Order: sequence, then structure tokens, then C-alpha cells
Amino acid sequence: MKEKVNIDEIIKKLTLKEKIGQLIQLAAFFFNPESVGEITGNLTEMGLEEEDVFRAGSVLGISGAKELKLIQSRYLEESNHDIPLVFMADIVHGYKTIFPVPLALGCSWNLEAAEKMAEISAIEASVGGVHITFSPMVDLVRDPRWGRVMESTGEDPYLNGLFAKAMVKGYQGDLKGPYNIGACVKHFAAYGAAEAGRDYNTVDMSERTLREYYLPAYKAAIDAGVMMVMTSFNTVLGVPATGNEYLMRGILRDEWGFEGTIISDWGAVNELIAHSIAEDGNEAALKAIKAGVDIEMMTPHYVHHLENLVKIGHVEERLIDDSVRRILELKEKLGLFENPYKSASEELETKLVLCDEHRNVARKIAGESIVLLENNGVLPINQNTKNIALIGPYGDEGDMIGPWHWSGRAEDSVTLLDGLKSYVGEGSIKYAKGCGIEDGNDDEFKKAIEVAKESDLIILALGEHEEMSGESGSRAYLKLPGRQEELIETILKLGKKVVVVLFSGRPLEISSFAKDVDALIQAWFPGTEGGNALADILMGVVNPSAKLTMSFPITVGQIPVYYNCYNTGRPKPFEENKERYFSQYLDIPNAPLYPFGYGLSYTNFEYSELELDKKEIVSGDTLELSVRITNAGDFEGREIVQLYIRDISGSVVRPLKELKSFKTIELKSGETETISFTIDEEMLKFHNFKNEFVYEKGKFEIMVGKNSMELLTTIFEFN
Ligand code: NOJ
Repeated sequence: MKEKVNIDEIIKKLTLKEKIGQLIQLAAFFFNPESVGEITGNLTEMGLEEEDVFRAGSVLGISGAKELKLIQSRYLEESNHDIPLVFMADIVHGYKTIFPVPLALGCSWNLEAAEKMAEISAIEASVGGVHITFSPMVDLVRDPRWGRVMESTGEDPYLNGLFAKAMVKGYQGDLKGPYNIGACVKHFAAYGAAEAGRDYNTVDMSERTLREYYLPAYKAAIDAGVMMVMTSFNTVLGVPATGNEYLMRGILRDEWGFEGTIISDWGAVNELIAHSIAEDGNEAALKAIKAGVDIEMMTPHYVHHLENLVKIGHVEERLIDDSVRRILELKEKLGLFENPYKSASEELETKLVLCDEHRNVARKIAGESIVLLENNGVLPINQNTKNIALIGPYGDEGDMIGPWHWSGRAEDSVTLLDGLKSYVGEGSIKYAKGCGIEDGNDDEFKKAIEVAKESDLIILALGEHEEMSGESGSRAYLKLPGRQEELIETILKLGKKVVVVLFSGRPLEISSFAKDVDALIQAWFPGTEGGNALADILMGVVNPSAKLTMSFPITVGQIPVYYNCYNTGRPKPFEENKERYFSQYLDIPNAPLYPFGYGLSYTNFEYSELELDKKEIVSGDTLELSVRITNAGDFEGREIVQLYIRDISGSVVRPLKELKSFKTIELKSGETETISFTIDEEMLKFHNFKNEFVYEKGKFEIMVGKNSMELLTTIFEFN
């Protein structure tokens, strides 16, 4: 066996300059001899020398076994030490086999699926030479104007935490296997709360809200052993996260005991200047290192200023050593000192990347992530339906793998047209685009209407373009872009059966047509196997079971609308109330169009007999709750049974309901099952006025049901 490397010995041998080198992360083109022009330009712009490149500790945004092996070997030859580079990349929902975007994955409520997704991503990425992924992204989201909601699993802190844990486990395993990669949870913290949904915008909230809603999912990732944390671009409690000592050294390290590596987001150290907490690069470097950022991503302030800051005594060298130690430990844990090329292998790439097994899993997961929002019985499509018209910009489009597909390719994906043809054959389906996502001409439009007229059933595949969500993809209007709503209106006038399938990275504003169509499916960006998964659902081979993890607003003016909100002192007494002086809108209901937890099935699950084994408990006790669920419809199906709790009166205001548990059951038509939940005092805890995490005695309401609005309820007392 190889001897364990002695990290302290390595650090001792490094010059201060070399140590600081470990703290910069550069994009891949700096190391690629073929992108010479790009390198020189960027080196000059960043004020870096070529030697700085060969001192850098890590690289981002590159994959491919052949290329990475070349970069690593050249680096080891050129640098003055034997410390290998670590390669990081955004493998957010798949490497080349692309899975549904995380918001869709969230709607599966399937933690094993999330773990499997991460495991497969890790297999493919590791043979492609990648060592760390910048995932999971666990920012809680409430504002669909923000383009990055597609990267999150949704609006619930508990569920986001469970997904965070599952993904970390899937990527990292025990870190010993050849196909394990390190995970980096992001964006610490509360990036999802950008004001007005505008990306990179200020975040301002009370510390209690931060701790109650936003921090739990990052904490879950830390508890699951995530190796790295990425800071966010935004301000938290008045200080940008990347210069926020309270967040990084206070909460993350001291309170939560995180010992891994902290990396800034791209350029975020430099952004401390625009944020107005640093006058220049020197001060930005000083603030970031003191606050706890180990690696500066893609800006050069550490390289330019830390050496001098140490020399003049403004930064203790110990701080630099600590950061270097963490980075070297990361490399050590990943096995890079033993084998700097790790699992990079052209042969395994050919064998494993996009293999049938991975595709099949992607298809299954996509099937569990696609949400049925409306259905008057038109779905599933009758096997004998002969003339199907498939219309719309997403009908034959492979580019539905999401804005963070990174190395995934549209040409590898199965389109909806392909998927449907594999069931009904060429002859039974006709495709016409009708219009583009944002554009369209009258001829195309007319052609589509002609095709629609000749059909028995029309499927409209519509949505927003991938690039309309994701980073820097904020939108103020959330309606379907271009002429797509006009297309729906025109088609509806034909009086035929119409199914709308929506592709988007966020909940869109769809209230103008949602209730008029015969069926409505939220496909999100379903990934490489999206077309097959959708066809499975449309044809009834898969019974939809996904439930929304982010509320759909009626209109933009209702945002943010989310289920776990407070009651206010003047709650609206009932939805039809017309009296004034209640917390309500004059023109729309308070409730969203589709609430958290909502999603239909081809069958119907009925809930009854919600019972508690006792009505009172004392500290240390648990409570058993049972509920009967019957599959009262004609199809076998999977149901996600949700349990919410409300603290009826606390020392601080408490949400109307909070998801505390859920169970997934599969029932055949006519079958009934009684399921039980155990309630304990941990489920009753919250942050009080002093931000202590406590439970308080009193009455609690327990709610169980198929979504956050349709619930059976009962009450117990905690004495
Ligand atoms: C910026 C994004 O905010 C972050 O999520 C990503 O990981 C980095 N760029 C690196 O690509």
C-alpha cells in the first residue's frame, strides 16, 4: 500500500507564493495549449503570468478523459511541486445522460431517484476526468421570476434538505470508489431569495427567517459530509456572502463544524468591490480570506495581494496555511496524490457514458418528475387513437435538457415526436411546428391548424426556451413567449380534444388557458429521455405521480406565493370573501393556481380515518398517526402521502403548515392501505426570538393529504 501523504510536510516545503497559488481556481482554457489567444488575452486581463497558471490549485469547467489527462500531466511537468490539479465542473443534473432539472426531480419526491441520478452523474463524470461537481444547489425558492428556480428542488426547507443529503450521498458515496466524485453544496447562503426575482440581487431577511427556511438544506448537506461549500453572490444580513465572516466562520465552521473547503462563486471575490464593502482588489482579498473563502474562483486578487498582506501583517500566514491544508486534504481524500488521473479513461467513457442502463434510469426518473396538472379524462391516450396532431416548438425538439445541461447534448435526446412514434407508429401522428418559442409566421401557423383539423387529438408542446431560465435568466413576464398563447386559443376554437405539454425551467403564468384545455402536463426540462418519458405518460404506460414542490402563481402580481407562509392578523376568512380589510387581493384569490404538493394521477386516491393513538403527549413521548388510503380509480398508481404540522400558538409566529414527513405508496385499483407516521418533539422545533432551536408546549394541528391544500386534520396537545 502507498504511504499516506504528509500534508504538513508538503505545506512546509511550499513558498508563500506557491501556497497562494493553490487558492486560485482558473478556467480550463488557461491550461489548454490550443487556446493560446484566449490564454494570453485573459492572462493580460487578469494580470497573471504563465507561472501563475502552473501554480493554480484547481481548474473548472472542463471534462473529457483525454484532455484532462493531458492537462494534468503537463501541469505536473511544469509546476515546481508534485501537487496535482483538482478538476471541478457543473454536473448539476447529469453529465451526458441528462436527468430532469432539479426542480422536476424535486417533484418526484423520490430520494432514491435523486441518489441514483447523482451516482450515475458521478460515474459518467469521473470517467470523463472530473473530480468535483458544483452540486447540489439547495437554495430555497419562492419566486419563479428568478431563472435559477430550475436548479433547486423547491420551496420547502425539509424536502430540500432530504434531497441535498440524497445527492451528496449519490455523488460521494464513501469517496473510496473509483466513480465517486466530491460534491460542493451551493450557494451559501439564501441566493434563492433575490429581491424581485432578479438574479444577483440583494437578499435581506431576518436571521430567524434565514435559519427557519433557508439554512436547513445547506446544513443537511454538511451533515451528509459534503466536501465543499460555494458562497453565493448576494448579500446576507447586510454583508455579501463571499465576505461574510459570520456566515462562513460563525455559522458554517463554528456552529455546524464544517471542515471542508469553501470556494467563492465565479468572480464573487471581485464583486465585493461593486457590493461596496471593498475599495479595491486588495481589500476584497483581505475581506474574503478573513471571512473564510479558501478558493477564489476566476479572479486574481488572492494571487495579487495575499503575499503582501501577509508580509505587512494584515493577514496571518496561518490563515493561508489553513486554506491550503483544506485544499490538499480535499485532493488527498479524492485519491489524487495516489493517482492524479484517477478514473479518467477513454475506454470507460465509451462504455459507460450514455449507456442504456443510464438512459433507462433517466427515463424512469423523468416519468416520476412530470406533473399532471389537469385531466378531464382525455389522458391516457386511447391506444386506438389514430390521428394525433403534435404541434408546437417543443414537439420535435431535443433541446429540452435544461439550461444547466453543461456537457449534455441536445442531439442525444429523444424528442416527444420520437417518443410518441415508438408507441403509435409513423402513420398515426402528424407534426407541425406552428410557431417558434419566441417567433412565428402566419404560414407555419396555418399549416399547424390544417394538421390539427384533420386529427382526433391534439398535443401542444409549448414552453419557454432553456436559456430563458437558469443563471441570469430572470423574467418579469411569465407567460408563454411569442405566439404560443395565440396558438392555444386558435386550436381550442376547433373544438377538439387538446392536451398541452409545457416545457419550462419555472412555474409559468398559465391561468389564461390551464382550465380550458382537456389535459395539462408540466414536463419541466425532462432530460435526455424526456420524449420517451412523456410518451410513457401520455400513453398510460406510466401513471403520473409527481407533485409540485413549487407553487404556481395565478399571476406575477401574486409572487411570492408559497404554502408555508404565516397567517397574518387578518387572514382572509374564506376564498370567496368580498368584504374589505382582510389580507387579500381585490382581483384574484390568495391561493396559487396550483399549490405545493399538488399533482394528479390517472387514478384517484381517497383519504379517510385520520387517527392519533393519543391526544396528548409529554416530552420524550411519540405519537402514532394512521390514515387509510384507497385507490378508488381504475389504474394502479403511486401516491405521495404528505404530512404537515401547524403550531397553533407559539412565542413567535408560526407558519400555517410545514411539511414534516411523507410516504410513498403504490396501490392497485380498489386496494386500500393504512399507513402510519410517528410524530416526535424534534418535528415541533423552530427558532425562537433568540434564534434558539426549541419546541414549545401547546396545541398542534396535524394535517395529512394529497397536497398542501386538500388535507384531513386533527389536533393534539404537547404538555
Ligand atoms: C456561477 C454559478 O453561479 C455557479 O452555480 C456555478 O457553479 C459557477 N458559475 C461555476 O460554473
